[in-house]
Amino acid sequence: MKNNLSELQIWLEKTESLILSYLSQNEDPQTPVVKYSPPLELRDSMDFSLGKPLSQNEIWPAMEKIMDKSVRTTHPLFLNQLFGGLQPEAISAEWMATILNPTMATYEIAPLMTILEKEVSRKLSNLMGLKLGEGIMVTGGSNANLVGLLCARQFKVPDVKKRGYQGKKYTVYVSSEAHYSYEKAVHISGLGIDHLRSVRVDAKGAMDPVILKEMVRQDIAQGFIPLMIGATAGTTVLGAFDPIAEINKVAREYNLWLHVDAAWGGGAILSPTHRHLLKGIHLADSVTFDAHKTLNTGLIASFVLCKHPGMLKQTNQGGGNEYIFHDYDNSDWDTGTYSLQCGRRPDILKLWLLWKSRGDEGMAKIIDHLFDLSSYAKTQIENHPRLKLISSQFLNNCFQVIPPNEFMDINQFTLKVRTHLVQSGKALVNYVELPNKTIFFRLVAANNQTTKVDLDRLFNEISHSMTIIDKFC
Ligand SMILES: Cc1ncc(COP(=O)(O)O)c(C=O)c1O
Repeated sequence: MKNNLSELQIWLEKTESLILSYLSQNEDPQTPVVKYSPPLELRDSMDFSLGKPLSQNEIWPAMEKIMDKSVRTTHPLFLNQLFGGLQPEAISAEWMATILNPTMATYEIAPLMTILEKEVSRKLSNLMGLKLGEGIMVTGGSNANLVGLLCARQFKVPDVKKRGYQGKKYTVYVSSEAHYSYEKAVHISGLGIDHLRSVRVDAKGAMDPVILKEMVRQDIAQGFIPLMIGATAGTTVLGAFDPIAEINKVAREYNLWLHVDAAWGGGAILSPTHRHLLKGIHLADSVTFDAHKTLNTGLIASFVLCKHPGMLKQTNQGGGNEYIFHDYDNSDWDTGTYSLQCGRRPDILKLWLLWKSRGDEGMAKIIDHLFDLSSYAKTQIENHPRLKLISSQFLNNCFQVIPPNEFMDINQFTLKVRTHLVQSGKALVNYVELPNKTIFFRLVAANNQTTKVDLDRLFNEISHSMTIIDKFC
């Protein structure tokens, strides 16, 4: 059936008005970030069953309800995840990407999007000093770490695709603070979780390169074959940056691939003021970069960048020649051969449009605003008589709430305050529970909608929750 343009116009106009009204509610301080309901209560709160069609008069109130009951990740006090808010360019580009609906598999179907993806990958690689680096967008930072590992495997075991591991035991080294996706990567790739080494960190949560070297040495002595070091630039909980230059020395001495997971910290490369945090990133063989985290493009906008031209293709290519990857003059522009996916969305459009519209300076301002918020949050925590700062690095501020008397455990008290805060719907801030039962808030500055006034509101809400919980102590 052909698209009926006047019908489409009704859908688009209704959608636009719903979106604008929804987003304008975020400006009202009374609008909650979350209206939490348990799953069964939520399931029974409206009719989700499929069958009878709804009229236009019925469908829009239903959609309004669905949006209203969803978590408002665009709310200025959504500070729970390593993403938040949305840039207007990204929203606009997502509409256009949906209409263009290419697949990034071949140049023939996605000529412009392929060029944009290459351009942004080149720009990011240049900023990081990866010289001839290539890049491809993937379905998230976790998958970028997986592809980094697959590249490492291809580098160290070139015939692995055909012959597998042949009984050899390969080891991978990440810090004890690294993202859990490395664990997934080792089991998905068949290396085995037992062969993922967890390297101790220093007091700030950064990998200790001396211990790393010793672990590599011992593994070699015991017959293992070290394959890759996965450093992290901006750890998930503490925001720590591993010392890439020192780690690289170990990688070169023992001929290991060096992957840097800069999913969280990578955005600092765009800021002349803060890019020093990524010192040494030019030494990486491959890098994970998530634009949906600090650049507010919306999920997903992830890259895996690789310093060695041809390696992404060597690693991921396989099959499809008879019907999709034809042998023609421009076949090296078919990025599907670089990718684990066949069909692939043009996630690039939102990042390219944002960057094109703001320029390098505007992109730096996005990042600098987050740093500014984070340093303000740190000062507020330090000056609050009942908040105890545990760690403040990059955009992560971790703190506990001091109970009213010595009989109450600080960890349990912190958890109770956090639970009260979330149930009030006023703000969403995540918490961390370490294996030793230490519990703390992890406040992250990732949301472009947040201002210092919003942070004042947050700390007022935390103080309010604290006084309510005090009454039960
Ligand atoms: C350091 C780090 N790496 C990787 C990831 C995974 O990213 P994604 O959620 O895009 O898969 C995260 C997610 O928070 C992260 O913090």
